Amino acid sequence: MEFDQVIFCCEVIRKHLIVNKHYHLQLLQNKILIRENLEHIAKYEVVLNLKQQISWKIGENHKIKEFGIRYNNKLKWFKGISDQLEQLKQRISNKIFMTGISNFYSSHDQIGTGASCKVIMIKDYATQISYAAKCVSKEYIRKKKTSDRFDRLVNEIEILRTLKQHPNLIKLQELYEGENSYYLIFEYLEGETLHKFIKNRGHLLTEPIVRSILQQLLLGIRQCHQQNIIHRDMKLENVVLTKLNKIDNIKIIDFGLAIFNTPEIPFSICGTPGYIAPEILNYEENKYKSEKFIYTPQIDMFGIGAMLYRIMTREPLFNAEKTKELLHKNQKCLYTKRSITQYSSVLNLILQGLLEFNPKKRISADQALEILQSQSINQITQRNESTNNINQTEEFQIQTSTDVIQTPYLFPNRKIKTELAFLHSYHINEDRICQSGKSYLPSFSIRQSLDIEHDSLIEETERDQVLEL
Ligand SMILES: Nc1ncnc2c1ncn2[C@@H]1O[C@H](COP(=O)(O)OP(=O)(O)OP(=O)(O)O)[C@@H](O)[C@H]1O
Ligand SMILES: [Mg+2]
Repeated sequence: MEFDQVIFCCEVIRKHLIVNKHYHLQLLQNKILIRENLEHIAKYEVVLNLKQQISWKIGENHKIKEFGIRYNNKLKWFKGISDQLEQLKQRISNKIFMTGISNFYSSHDQIGTGASCKVIMIKDYATQISYAAKCVSKEYIRKKKTSDRFDRLVNEIEILRTLKQHPNLIKLQELYEGENSYYLIFEYLEGETLHKFIKNRGHLLTEPIVRSILQQLLLGIRQCHQQNIIHRDMKLENVVLTKLNKIDNIKIIDFGLAIFNTPEIPFSICGTPGYIAPEILNYEENKYKSEKFIYTPQIDMFGIGAMLYRIMTREPLFNAEKTKELLHKNQKCLYTKRSITQYSSVLNLILQGLLEFNPKKRISADQALEILQSQSINQITQRNESTNNINQTEEFQIQTSTDVIQTPYLFPNRKIKTELAFLHSYHINEDRICQSGKSYLPSFSIRQSLDIEHDSLIEETERDQVLEL
């Protein structure tokens, strides 16, 4: 039966002192089988998962000569034809951690920093093609006693691997493990984040540009939602332009908080303050034990709404000096609602549909795309009739809809405050963060404790040492 599933095969040799041994290598969907003879059972078996490692030896011109697997606690090396081993590597490269990243890539500038990682540009020695390496230090993973952080890394990888290739979603290429870090290798996006793109422009973007950005965000997130994946951290910093200053192709990145949407997912407040769907902040676990929180793709739609608001006004959706105030406004969905006259009523109505307080009434990616593409205002005006009587200029509180949330929940302030106490960044709003030179707002997840511990990250000056041999 296993023979039917063979997706690649080749001959490999193990060097022995007297006579070398020849083996058949077969690559199946989830494992590599190596046997002397096709009639025999496999002598070596490598399951392709993130607990296993595969090593490579390279020769001249960075061509692969041998690969190594762990067997009975020893590294066993197999020789093969370079081109075939290269094909093997390409087929397994995002299913298993590989060693020896420095054999394949040179390390260049740091291009990003996140809560748990540094992102550096690397160049393939053989092709000179650039890639982005998201480096997660093992020290950071180990700092937490439980396996949480490693599990989250594994989850991020699983989700990235599951996502079908899409022009508006980042593609994971390879995985490496060094002594000190894990490396996720992505296609390299030359442009800036959407946050920087907007910030660098001193003026509002034109209607066609806003439409193009919105359409791409919707297409990307629709692909995730169709695959039952929720991103949970949609924000301007997690969208990157493929080419500098060009919005023809933008990609959603950072699936660090993403989940496969199953009912078993435990509740955790997660996302970035200012972009979090209010239903998350309004749910209080202990008080409403019987009502289990079910994540819906609509939480991403609210995030896109907050992004669109920023794009259309150049201001954050919720203006606040302190984290507490920001979270409070975010929870109650308190923002200055106005018709943004520089843009069409279609964009304004989509914005309103995305920022709908009630997740059941909030528009989906499909609906938003339909409206954007058909340009029809009727559909959305009907859908939002109930919210259209809102004061157009003053700050307002969107009424809690009675069909989903019966009673207004108490703000779980104490819990969030305790959890956020060490996240200094949350005590200044986004603009002040920008002034202070940081251009990102880190994400957080209370249950998963995605904390900010910059001391565990490798300093910029040590960048050159990031890639390990
Ligand atoms: N493929 C890429 N090409 C270019 N730049 C990238 C790429 N991936 C990430 N970056 C840059 O690195 C920054 C951090 O990356 P990312 O958002 O994935 O990490 P993060 O926010 O730390 O994620 P997490 O908190 O989940 O670990 C991005 O905001 C972006 O500027
Ligand atoms: Mg990020």
